[in-house]
Amino acid sequence: MKKLFGVLGNPIGHSMSPVMHNDLFSLYNIDAEYLPFLVKEDELRDAVNGLRALGAGGFNVTIPHKSSIIPFLDEVDELAASIGAVNTVVNKDGKLIGYNTDGLGFLKGLDAYKTKIQSQKILVIGAGGAARAIYFTLAKEKPIQIDIANRTLEKAVQLIEECPYSISSRGLTLNHASSELGEYDLIIQTTMIGMEPNITEQPITLEYLNENSLVCEIIYNPLETRILREAKSIGATVQNGIDMFVYQGALAFEKWTGIFPDIQRMKENVLGQLGGK
Ligand code: ATR
Repeated sequence: MKKLFGVLGNPIGHSMSPVMHNDLFSLYNIDAEYLPFLVKEDELRDAVNGLRALGAGGFNVTIPHKSSIIPFLDEVDELAASIGAVNTVVNKDGKLIGYNTDGLGFLKGLDAYKTKIQSQKILVIGAGGAARAIYFTLAKEKPIQIDIANRTLEKAVQLIEECPYSISSRGLTLNHASSELGEYDLIIQTTMIGMEPNITEQPITLEYLNENSLVCEIIYNPLETRILREAKSIGATVQNGIDMFVYQGALAFEKWTGIFPDIQRMKENVLGQLGGK
């Protein structure tokens, strides 16, 4: 019998996950279908119970439900619980278990560049939900230092205080981080600044960027944000948000099927979808 999978969000029409996962189900001959579900905030509980009743194999969760879904699940793994957000749910014999593959997806995406996290000094720009998933996941890997730069300094400081893994960290203003940018091996931009339609914006100036640094984005629309374009012109290595998106999906697919899927094929699928938009 065909297994049901899906993604719950609002809005959900532009999600690239259904085409990406359905392509994998057909590639691996799995009799399953992945659908986008538009779910309003006050109907999240019913949607989750409905999927449970229908015997769905699992589902993804996206904005705005990543945190509010937690009380409706039967179990949440340790990392997702510390992040306070779930993006992947697995139905294990009727029990709904929540995971967070966003931060791990980011980390896996870095493997392609053979980055040695433990020897890195890292700067995270932003202190929102995406920053939290990436910061906690990276902190668990014990790099030398992870600083957080944010427009609202108190939010950066609060994030550092809430991190459950011991790590050397400083909260910085965006200007302070800009002036010390040369110190960092890895810089991760996690805000929406630079995303369509605000493509001329960037969160920090790159005057002091070290050309040996790797600058990463979580944005993939546009594929090259202003900060990546400038970093590239300085000679730094850059990485857009496609890797994180594809790897978070790959890790979810692995949790549902036991198969770690073909990353290259997923990337081509997503780039094809973006090109068609
Ligand atoms: P998400 O969950 O997608 O990460 P969020 O929780 O709304 O989104 O967080 C957005 C991040 O982008 C925050 O770090 C926010 O900074 P503040 O904490 O100061 O609000 C940052 N951000 C959004 N718009 C910004 C802007 N115009 N300039 C600087 N930072 C901005």
